Amino acid sequence: MMKELGYYNGQWGPLETMTVPMNDRAGYFGDGIYEAALAHNGVIFALDDHLRRLWRSADKLRIELRWTQDEMRDILYDMLSKVEPGDTLVYWQVTRGTALRNHAFPNGVPANLWITLKPITLGDPRHRLRLITVEDTRFLHCDIKTLNLIPNVMAAQLAAEAGCDESVFHRGEVVTECAHSNISILKDGRFITHPTDNYILPGITRARLLDACAEVGIPTEERTFTLAELMDADEVIVSSTTKGGVLAGEIDGQAVGGRAEAVFARLQAAYTARYERETAK
Ligand code: PDD
Repeated sequence: MMKELGYYNGQWGPLETMTVPMNDRAGYFGDGIYEAALAHNGVIFALDDHLRRLWRSADKLRIELRWTQDEMRDILYDMLSKVEPGDTLVYWQVTRGTALRNHAFPNGVPANLWITLKPITLGDPRHRLRLITVEDTRFLHCDIKTLNLIPNVMAAQLAAEAGCDESVFHRGEVVTECAHSNISILKDGRFITHPTDNYILPGITRARLLDACAEVGIPTEERTFTLAELMDADEVIVSSTTKGGVLAGEIDGQAVGGRAEAVFARLQAAYTARYERETAK
């Protein structure tokens, strides 16, 4: 049983001992796509959704996946069986292949599969996050889950330096998403979230929260909202695989939300019930 496991094209071992070829296009170009999912009770939560999104990202970047979704699922579960039980972050990426540096695609080179598994301690879902705002200077393909994450890294670092948990991206007045999460608001009993266009990642947790809204009867609106609406929201909800849906309590040092805790509690309970049900042994 390993604590942290690394896998590369069929080879696997303790993560810190694993190495990859210098010519993997991940290094030169970030030429790849990825997914991150949570395993609980030995079950990878929402794995079908993650595989579907990976296939969609691959399609947009014309990366040829040489596995079926079933084969990839089997590899992930095989690796998961080799690490200590407990909540695990299952991270995997597919890169375009290994070749001398040249921008255009290499010919006849198969894609590479990387997997890392590490134990994860989930945060307290009642803890309110502290956020900062950062201008969204990313490219116009934020719906593709690519390895090109420099603006996200810079924004996450600014949050860390400010003693905060996440950065909220905005393009001018319009709020898009966060450095590594989606963001939504509750206002007058409605759940409002950016539409899934090219400006945000179509988060699986975001989609699950929309389902949970339907389940508990909270009306939803998939439309853009502004920084002013964010600051004036009844609640601000940040969502990602590792966090689930959690509330923010502060943005740029100003208190936010706190006016619809009961509505959010119903939503969070519905989300958590689905999570527990789908990851039951
Ligand atoms: N981050 N937006 C961005 C830019 C993200 O990187 C993520 C996920 C999300 C939320 O998506 P989901 O609910 O499917 O996890 C939104 C993952 C966890 C990461 O990069 O580690």
